[in-house]
Formats: sequence, C-alpha cells, structure tokens
Amino acid sequence: MPAIISKASGKIILFGEHAVVYGYPAIAVPIDTIQVKVSILPAINKEQSIIKLRNINWHDDVLFTALDENDPIRISIKNVFALINQTPPHFEMTISSSIPIAAGLGSSAALAVAITKGMSRFLGIYLSNDEINVLAYKSEEIQHGSPSGIDNSVITFGHPILYSKSKEISQIEIRNAIHIILADTGKRTLTKDVVSLVKKNLKKKPDVIKPILAEIGGLVEKATDALLYGRLKEIGNLMVRNHIALKKLGASSIELDQLVESSLINGALGAKLCGGGKGGYMVAVCEPASCERVSSGLVSDGATHIISTTIVGSKKGK
Ligand code: PMV
Repeated sequence: MPAIISKASGKIILFGEHAVVYGYPAIAVPIDTIQVKVSILPAINKEQSIIKLRNINWHDDVLFTALDENDPIRISIKNVFALINQTPPHFEMTISSSIPIAAGLGSSAALAVAITKGMSRFLGIYLSNDEINVLAYKSEEIQHGSPSGIDNSVITFGHPILYSKSKEISQIEIRNAIHIILADTGKRTLTKDVVSLVKKNLKKKPDVIKPILAEIGGLVEKATDALLYGRLKEIGNLMVRNHIALKKLGASSIELDQLVESSLINGALGAKLCGGGKGGYMVAVCEPASCERVSSGLVSDGATHIISTTIVGSKKGK
C-alpha cells in the first residue's frame, strides 16, 4: 500500500496580528516554500504505532503511546481517532518540516493541519476543509491557550484570507505577485507570552491600548483594498504603520526594530514584525530590483536566516 502523504504550508500574518485576538480583522497568507510533510503507512504485524521525526538538525523515533498527553502530535492524531467507533490500526507516521519552530511562521498550525488531513485519509474518513480547520484549532487551543484561529485557517484553506473571529473567513485577492523577504531575529518567544503581555498592557492602560487596536483594524481594511489593486507603495506604508502600532502594544523588540529599519534603509517599500513578535521573523516587501540589497542588508544587520519568496493571488477552489 502506498503511503498517504499530506502537506501543509507555513504562513505569515501580513497585517493585523494581536488586534485579531480582540475581534479586529487580520490578513494572513500561506508561504508555500516552507512546509510540513506527513507520510503514513500501516504498521502491519507491529505491536505499536511509531512516529518518525525527520528535521534538518535532528532525527528521532518515538512510540505513539510514549508521547506526552499534551504533545501536539498526539492531540492531532487523537482528535481524528475520536471520529471513528473502532480501535484504529497501528501506523508508522513520518513527519518532516522546513518551517522554523516558534518563529511566527505557523509551524504548530501546519503540523496540526497536515496530521489531521493525513490521518483522516489513512482511516478512510472524508473531512471538508471546514472540518479539518475545526480539528486543527482544537490542537492549537491546547498549545496556545485561546488563539484567534487565524493560523489554522490560512493553512487549512491554503490561500490569502481576511480573518476575524466573528465573521466568515473570506478569501482575498492579491492581484500582482508581491516579493517578500522574511528575516529571522534568531530569538524565540512563545506567542502566548506576548499575547499575555499585550493583555496586561490593555488592562493597565485601556485608554492608550484600545485606540491602537482599533487603528490596526483600520489599517487592515485599507490593506485589503491595496492588495486587491496591487498598490505596492501603499502596502509598504501600511506595513510600517502596522509595525509602529505593534511596537506601541509592546510586541516588538530591539532586534525586530533593527531589522525593520535595516530593510527600509536598503530600499524595502515596507516592513513589520510578523506573528506574535518579541522575536521570530519580520517581513519586508520590496520591488524585485531591490530584494538583493534588502536581503544582504538584513544579514549584515543581524538576521540569522532569510527566506526570499513571493505571495500571489488567491487560488480559488484549492
Ligand atoms: O506567532 P503566531 O504565528 O502564532 O501568530 C500569532 C498571532 C497573534 O495574533 C499574536 C495571536 C493569535 O492568536 O492570533
């Protein structure tokens, strides 16, 4: 029997992180150049199911039953097992990922989506994208507390989305391919810690923080239109304004600010932190002609890793 293979991309939040937790809209796009790949085979004549982790820097084989109760891999698999009324067969699952962990690029949501898709197919269950999304959110909830749901949604649907907690997810058009550079600060911070910090700031200074959250919501509305009509300069300006607002919320760091500044000095049209912040990656948008200069400037100014890619118009029906 050939292996069941499923994949899920990484993502970035182009506009609106943190404010999305408070009900404002945000824009996220999948990043196909980084992915989680899950491959599942039946473990015929084996007593146990096994998970083989294959990352660039380390390899590990673990028994499924040896995984911690709260391990995200175990939770995602168990969520699918709960859909059937019989003892699931033993399996051998190989997981490989090129998505940097805890860096704001969606590694945990991609893992949950790829496992949910793969395991449901392995068990012969058809799940719609909406159903996969609900299960992936459950797994995200265990790890992150109460995430907004934007990460699992953009990764499940695999196209740029405008997301808010109370409205239906809508696919957004990005008319012209946009060149982006993602640069790593080399620092890692848990998203839930930065979300808590913003919450604390909101409690302490509601008169200051509330208008900033609303301002971010307004930037997202303008950005949706600018993306649709390919107004690159405006997109860049809105990103810088979004970064300044995130800084005021307390989500930035010296390293993120330095990389944002470096990219702007070297010709980027705009830049901002992406995801939870404090560490992880930032994103810069540039014209093709200046991408090289922006990338090498970022490396000189301390970026530990660069991902250079494009984001494109929506893929209908994917
Ligand atoms: O750090 P990431 O990629 O998981 O992004 C988090 C985005 C936040 O808005 C900060 C949190 C959330 O749940 O939406």
